[in-house]
Amino acid sequence: MRMGAGIFVSALFLWLLVSLLITGGSEANAGPQTWTSSRQCMSCHEEVFAEWQDSWHARSWTDPDVRAPSQSNNFQNKDCIDCHAPRPVFETGVGNRVLPRSSRRSEGVDCIACHLLPNGRMAGTIDNPRAACKPQATVQLQREDYCGVCHNQHKTVDQWRDTAWAERGEGCLHCHMPFRDGDPNRGRHHGMPGGHDLELVASAVTLTAQRDANGVGVLVSNVAAAHAYPTDERSRASDLWWRPLAESGEELPWRHLHRIRDPYRWEVDVPSTLLMAAEGRELRIDGPDAQGPLEVLLVYKLTPFYRDPASGEPFALGEVTDPLSDSQEVHRVRVDGAGEPK
Ligand code: HEC
Ligand code: HEC
Ligand code: HEC
Ligand code: HEC
Ligand code: HEC
Repeated sequence: MRMGAGIFVSALFLWLLVSLLITGGSEANAGPQTWTSSRQCMSCHEEVFAEWQDSWHARSWTDPDVRAPSQSNNFQNKDCIDCHAPRPVFETGVGNRVLPRSSRRSEGVDCIACHLLPNGRMAGTIDNPRAACKPQATVQLQREDYCGVCHNQHKTVDQWRDTAWAERGEGCLHCHMPFRDGDPNRGRHHGMPGGHDLELVASAVTLTAQRDANGVGVLVSNVAAAHAYPTDERSRASDLWWRPLAESGEELPWRHLHRIRDPYRWEVDVPSTLLMAAEGRELRIDGPDAQGPLEVLLVYKLTPFYRDPASGEPFALGEVTDPLSDSQEVHRVRVDGAGEPK
């Protein structure tokens, strides 16, 4: 009996010693006991923090484009809080819709929402119980369904599943969270660019226009987005416009050719014209006005604030004289007139 107690005491001592060695007692590893703000991560993960702070995830609660629409009414509509100020993804579990949180909403989609596990550790690529935040290797963190808890309500993840990228195993992180400087040892960039990055948007599509016997054939192709162009947010639209180029140099009005867009929820009879991954779409500019030199313009629109017939604002596409007043230029091509030398 006494022997047993002795062994027990030594074992206890050994355990204390080992745990002291493991935690190291080092200052750098002294993290807080509970995670109450993403600011707590800043001191140890400075680079990630700076990238995240500059991302749209960090702005999801303060973003005026989310607060202003009547459907949100400054988040008076509680349904909008779920994904824009979410509780941790791993609390509800991948595959389930996130729940809204009641504190520190201004941090938006933050470190805690994306990384905190129910056991208090941080989902990561490595196991390290000695580090203050106790990272725990979690494969789900790299899966498309993880982004999908917020990004599949408009089927972005489902769109990806049908593509060559999915076949090669190149998921959301491949394009939206590339390795810093292309170096796997440097970790993944948390900037997560999307529709606000015009360069990325322009890289997704190509625009060509060619004259033939009848007029001009226009081809717009989604070449680099592994999902629809545009995707996710329904207020995004991409419009094609064209105008004859007058010999005098006078600027003639633009004419609307085509709109690429997912209809709003309430537009039940409107078909989707999203340009799916790897899809090319041909359009025609024919008729007498199409015989001279002309130019074709592809623009991208972010939010419903912009004059948008489908948003219910009193406006008709035909009234637009300057498509660039409410949208950004993606591509522009010029076509020579019939019979002009190449
Ligand atoms: C299921 C999760 C989810 C819910 C619920 C949700 N959103 Fe979002 N919201 C997102 C995601 C994800 C994005 C980013 C999509 C993108 O960039 O295409 C987004 C982006 C937006 C944007 C574009 C922001 C910008 O900067 O251009 C607006 C506007 C918006 N949401 C409004 C709302 C409103 C209004 C509600 C409530 C009716 C709402 N959201 C509810 C997930 C959600
Ligand atoms: C006191 C310093 C400290 C704080 C505070 C801290 N961490 Fe860590 N974190 C570390 C250390 C050290 C590592 C381990 C690095 C290693 O082993 O390569 C780590 C690792 C991680 C990993 C795994 C990295 C990988 O390569 O997979 C994640 C994810 C992580 N931290 C997230 C967070 C988040 C989110 C917070 C805030 C909620 C946070 N950490 C707070 C020190 C800290
Ligand atoms: C939208 C979700 C999301 C947000 C927000 C987010 N992370 Fe991450 N984080 C990830 C994913 C996904 C990975 C990549 C895992 C991998 O490499 O496979 C990751 C990787 C990491 C790593 C591993 C090393 C590296 O640099 O890639 C650390 C550390 C980390 N995050 C910390 C943080 C901290 C700190 C914050 C807040 C400032 C934060 N994360 C915000 C999803 C997120
Ligand atoms: C907890 C919910 C949530 C998760 C998980 C999440 N996001 Fe987001 N994401 C959002 C919201 C909300 C926005 C819109 C923020 C805004 O513009 O107001 C957004 C915006 C974006 C954008 C658009 C940026 C832009 O330019 O407008 C991209 C790209 C993006 N997320 C990629 C990802 C990827 C990749 C993952 C998985 C690693 C991921 N997100 C995980 C909620 C989430
Ligand atoms: C092969 C590269 C690639 C992959 C893989 C990829 N994307 Fe994208 N993504 C893009 C490009 C290019 C754009 C810009 C054009 C567009 O909106 O389609 C974009 C745009 C986005 C946007 C911004 C839309 C907006 O309205 O601002 C979101 C959100 C997004 N992707 C989410 C995802 C998610 C979630 C996955 C994983 C299922 C994913 N992406 C996989 C290339 C990629």
